Amino acid sequence: MQHPHADFPMRLQKFLSRAGVASRRGSEDLMTTGRVSVNGQVVRELGTKVDPTLDVITVDGKVISAAGSPTYIMLNKPAGVLTTMDDPHGRPTVAQLVADAGQPALFPVGRLDLDTSGLLLFTTDGELGHRLTHPKYEHYKTYEVRVRGKLDDAALEKLRDGVMLDDGMTAPAKVSYDGHVLTLSIREGRNRQVRRMCEAVGHPVLKLHRTQFGPLQLGKLALGTWRPLTKDEINSLMTD
Ligand code: URA
Repeated sequence: MQHPHADFPMRLQKFLSRAGVASRRGSEDLMTTGRVSVNGQVVRELGTKVDPTLDVITVDGKVISAAGSPTYIMLNKPAGVLTTMDDPHGRPTVAQLVADAGQPALFPVGRLDLDTSGLLLFTTDGELGHRLTHPKYEHYKTYEVRVRGKLDDAALEKLRDGVMLDDGMTAPAKVSYDGHVLTLSIREGRNRQVRRMCEAVGHPVLKLHRTQFGPLQLGKLALGTWRPLTKDEINSLMTD
């Protein structure tokens, strides 16, 4: 008899990638590392077929439904938390903060320093993640910065025009300053770039917080919490 759903049974890694858990390759890795179970049994065999209408499929114990689309969320990362999904030394990581999203294959798009807070995007969509961090497509990222001392016009001009760092001149930046908070938007994403730019103009960073990533705005999202992106936000990331 013809099965009621033409796609099923299907290969487990195909189901996982369709469900937005990870790429096909990433799903295979989840299986071979023993994180995937079918009806309570760990399944490492890549050829295994499943019928999601009958079988209960879990990753790290969380049931995966056949939603069929990748996940996109934003986190308001607190300072003091590492941007990694796995720290061998057991320090606080962003992975713990997004664990309740129930998507073990989420990964952060780019990185914020340990001491930086603010908007960090996560997705299971490998292609988008790659595109967003590729230098060719890099979006503006906006930071609210508190620095030591008061910035004068000459320092602001340098930040705006480009600062010489040990890995070369920075590209032009958008800069505004109200006497307390410096708002800096840059397209590049070099290591510790904002900290090094401010240091180079004689004003070390005291506090660094990211409020925007391309078209995404952190808004009033509470520190240490996450929310899914809206459809409009996802579309804006794809087309921006
Ligand atoms: N620039 C920095 O110096 N640190 C960050 O975390 C992000 C941008």
